[in-house]
Amino acid sequence: MSESQLWQKVDDYFTGRLLPDAPDDALAAALRDSDAAGLPPIAVSALQGKLLQLLAQLQGARNILEIGTLGGYSTIWLGRALPADGRLVSLEYDPGHAEVAVRNIARAGLDKQVEVRVGAALESLPRLADENPPPFDVVFIDADKVNNPHYMEWALKLTSTGSLIILDNVVRGGRVADPDNTDPDVLGTRAALDLIGSHPRLSGTAIQTVGAKDYDGFALARVLA
Ligand SMILES: C[S@@+](CC[C@H](N)C(=O)[O-])C[C@H]1O[C@@H](n2cnc3c(N)ncnc32)[C@H](O)[C@@H]1O
Repeated sequence: MSESQLWQKVDDYFTGRLLPDAPDDALAAALRDSDAAGLPPIAVSALQGKLLQLLAQLQGARNILEIGTLGGYSTIWLGRALPADGRLVSLEYDPGHAEVAVRNIARAGLDKQVEVRVGAALESLPRLADENPPPFDVVFIDADKVNNPHYMEWALKLTSTGSLIILDNVVRGGRVADPDNTDPDVLGTRAALDLIGSHPRLSGTAIQTVGAKDYDGFALARVLA
């Protein structure tokens, strides 16, 4: 058995023990329809989705911002952490992805709380800021990695003391720590990590993970005063 197969096996075990009801109908259908529509299989795993949901619940989140919707799988996990009058804005570049996501989110019964905005996030974010929304309690960044430092800057503008910023895919099989790797996505992730490590308004960490999504990881940053 390869390392990767072992990680998958343990994730299957954890999922069976800890999330016996997940994926439930709406989550399973979201993945099935995303796959049928030809979306890439790059959504978070069920265990990761549950972690996002727990983090949002620990935050007592009423307002959540997601950058990178895909088919709305992580959106549904996060949306389920919201109170009835909570709000989640998810930004997606690809209209085809957004169309699938909107259907998946509606089937999950979250269409009142969740809004998917189509367009390049760096164009949607200034428009969102112009609306003076209440500070987002959680920001989940999971789009084009080259823009991660810009997304971190926008997250800082759109949050307040105590907000949580989650940055996905910071390990990428270890490429982040390979000084010879100058892939723009890796450079973007390094710049975002540097920002977290050096910004006076951020306190953060990064965690390596293995599992159904192979070897990767995420960074967490708390917004300080
Ligand atoms: C890794 S997927 C998101 C997965 C999703 N968060 C989940 O776990 O279910 C990244 C998504 O970001 C979108 N994306 C890429 N570049 C973008 C951009 N500049 N602005 C907004 N979305 C973008 C892609 O089209 C893709 O759907």
